[in-house]
Amino acid sequence: MEDLSSLTHLLMVDFTQMKAFGEDPLILTEGQGIRVRDDRGKWYVDGISGVFVNALGHGNQRVIQAATQQLNTLAFHAPLFSTNAPALQLAKLLTGIAPRGYSTLKFFSGGAEANEAAIKMARQFAAQNGNGKKFKVLSHYRGYHGGTGHALAASGSPSWRSVYEPFAPGFIHVHPPFTYGARFGLEGEALSAAAAALLEETIVLEGPDTIAAFITEPIMLSAGVRVPPPGYLERVQAICDRHDILLIFDEIITGFGRTGHLFASNLYGVTPDLLSFGKGVSGGYAPLSGVLIQERVARTFWGEIDDNVQFRAGHTYAGNPVACAVGVAAVSELLERNVVNNARRMGERLQSGLRVLAERRQCIVDVRGEGLLIALEFAQDKATREPFPESLKFGNRVHKAARHRGLLIREGPNFVALAPPLVVTEADVDEITELMDQAIGDALTDSAAADPAHLGAHRRGS
Ligand SMILES: Cc1ncc(COP(=O)(O)O)c(C=O)c1O
Repeated sequence: MEDLSSLTHLLMVDFTQMKAFGEDPLILTEGQGIRVRDDRGKWYVDGISGVFVNALGHGNQRVIQAATQQLNTLAFHAPLFSTNAPALQLAKLLTGIAPRGYSTLKFFSGGAEANEAAIKMARQFAAQNGNGKKFKVLSHYRGYHGGTGHALAASGSPSWRSVYEPFAPGFIHVHPPFTYGARFGLEGEALSAAAAALLEETIVLEGPDTIAAFITEPIMLSAGVRVPPPGYLERVQAICDRHDILLIFDEIITGFGRTGHLFASNLYGVTPDLLSFGKGVSGGYAPLSGVLIQERVARTFWGEIDDNVQFRAGHTYAGNPVACAVGVAAVSELLERNVVNNARRMGERLQSGLRVLAERRQCIVDVRGEGLLIALEFAQDKATREPFPESLKFGNRVHKAARHRGLLIREGPNFVALAPPLVVTEADVDEITELMDQAIGDALTDSAAADPAHLGAHRRGS
């Protein structure tokens, strides 16, 4: 077979320095269950479900058959003047299982498309209700909502944004609660109240009559799997209601069982006006995403025929029949095989295994998350939580060591994220915990050699 690694200069991989990638490429050629194999024949446990996508693992026959059957029946049609049977079936299924009040949805293919549309819907909702001045969009610093115009403008980290600035006006960022937690020693309800008060102050200073929407991930993934402090999201919802601002939850990651609940909205008891979903809805067997719309919002998009009220945007592959047939099968698998409960139970087992590691290893200062969405945070000093120097790239070292050991995870500067398929077994979870332990040990040894001044205390691999 052709040496595939000689071809990597022909394409660009997401968020990746391609010269470095070319020197040590990861080229995947096969998947079975929760494992994937690279072009050299090495197998890995997929500890991150692709990227929070492969909820059912690889080779799910029900989903594969649904896709095959739909490909043989109707592979594509124009999404601008027609729809299809699987799209309608999936819309019925999803509005039936979503938290209360979602009467309608619109399908897309990727997460950014869904968030882009949710932002547009919020602006159009305001305009159609006579509030045309409401156009600003609030979001959290360090949140991530996708790589397209509005979705990226609402995202809040300079590393994604700076080379593409300036963005369209009206995207305002507020600090997420965890910033205050670390800086001012706040936690629990006090942290939640302080962060909510600052959000409301921002709204008042910006002018509530200029703000259309607040968009947030219920659990901020890219920021390091930041779980909201108790009551924060309820407070956010009350503030948005008070100022007539639509609340958008970006559940691209947290939707479809990832947190051990069908949606994070169920977990936190907060029902946003618009809920965007993606990734897990298809289990990775087709590109599929969408926005669930509360009835009072959806109503304004119907209007009278003569007024020609409509949502003025679409995408060629939105609501694609093959993707929707996959969605029906994948979501039915989640529901009928009790996969969400499994995610909750296995998440508890994984977190408690990792907490045992944290007791033993000085460098693990936090284990956090919900269900099978978990982060391990690292620091050089457990007591002071002083981080490792950025130049050490400790998260990256753990990531590399894990890959070497046969475990794929996601890295941040001083944390790593784990999110294995929701169908993992107890034995899988224990294997992942063991591989993480080995990878952290390797990263510490490697770091101590690279930076003896900071890593002296960790020389013994603790
Ligand atoms: C929370 C969140 N929202 C949106 C997106 C964008 O989704 P996509 O890459 O499918 O456009 C991502 C991607 O990882 C994400 O993590």
